Amino acid sequence: MSNKGLFPSSLSKKYAMAATGLFLCLFLVGHLLGNLQLFQSGEAGRDAFNEYALFMTTFPLVKVLSYATYFGILLHVVDGILLVRANRAARPVRYVKENGAANAGWSSRNMAVLGTVVLAFIAAHMQNFWYVMHFGEVSTYAIDGVEVKDLHGVVMEFFGPANGMALGAVLFYVIAQVAIGFHLWHGFASAFQSFGLRSEKYTPWIEGAGKAFSVVVPAAFASIPVYLYIIQLS
Ligand code: HEM
Repeated sequence: MSNKGLFPSSLSKKYAMAATGLFLCLFLVGHLLGNLQLFQSGEAGRDAFNEYALFMTTFPLVKVLSYATYFGILLHVVDGILLVRANRAARPVRYVKENGAANAGWSSRNMAVLGTVVLAFIAAHMQNFWYVMHFGEVSTYAIDGVEVKDLHGVVMEFFGPANGMALGAVLFYVIAQVAIGFHLWHGFASAFQSFGLRSEKYTPWIEGAGKAFSVVVPAAFASIPVYLYIIQLS
């Protein structure tokens, strides 16, 4: 079973998981840099974010990257499920005395659960903003004669205390970033290992970079809804 279908060998499954995982890490960096514009206040901040959103949804190369991201998420999820199934098939009976902590860290042993939480977040998040941007009713206004959708207003309203659900939304986003952080804590360095990039010299650097990435990126993402909620208090 595990040797047929989309990824014929366990090695190809690992490569695909690593390649899609690292590609999604790049997406996270790009997405974070764009979202950091939400920290800019006033009309200038609103215009900058909305122009950025217009560029992201209309510029042809970015559109191609967007489709690559959707495809990357799908492939990462399907491959993850196949890997879990293949691992279970290879070891159908759990060891009587399983001492997981001695062999692998908490994140490493819970990648599937963490991945499921991240997927649930992405689904909810796409509904919150992506769906509204593309298919919802969003007010528009002109910047230098170009009509733009006010996605900035949508995001502000979503995380603003005037919306009764905002505190729950902020909490949900922060908790999701913790899950993303733990998922990356193991996943980032593990992807390099899957490609065989392991050496006494480079492994400590890769692991250090992975840990830094898994703390800094989710923390920066989490700070956005918290900030947008706080600045709209009173
Ligand atoms: C917590 C702070 C975040 C904010 C404020 C935010 C905001 C947004 C907004 C406004 C959009 C719609 C604009 C567009 O379609 O380009 C969007 C799209 C998206 N977001 Fe986020 N995001 C956040 C975190 C994340 C995280 C952590 C992930 C992944 C784990 C993520 C994944 C996505 C994806 C996949 C899309 C669709 C992108 C596309 O269509 O190219 N976002 N986000």
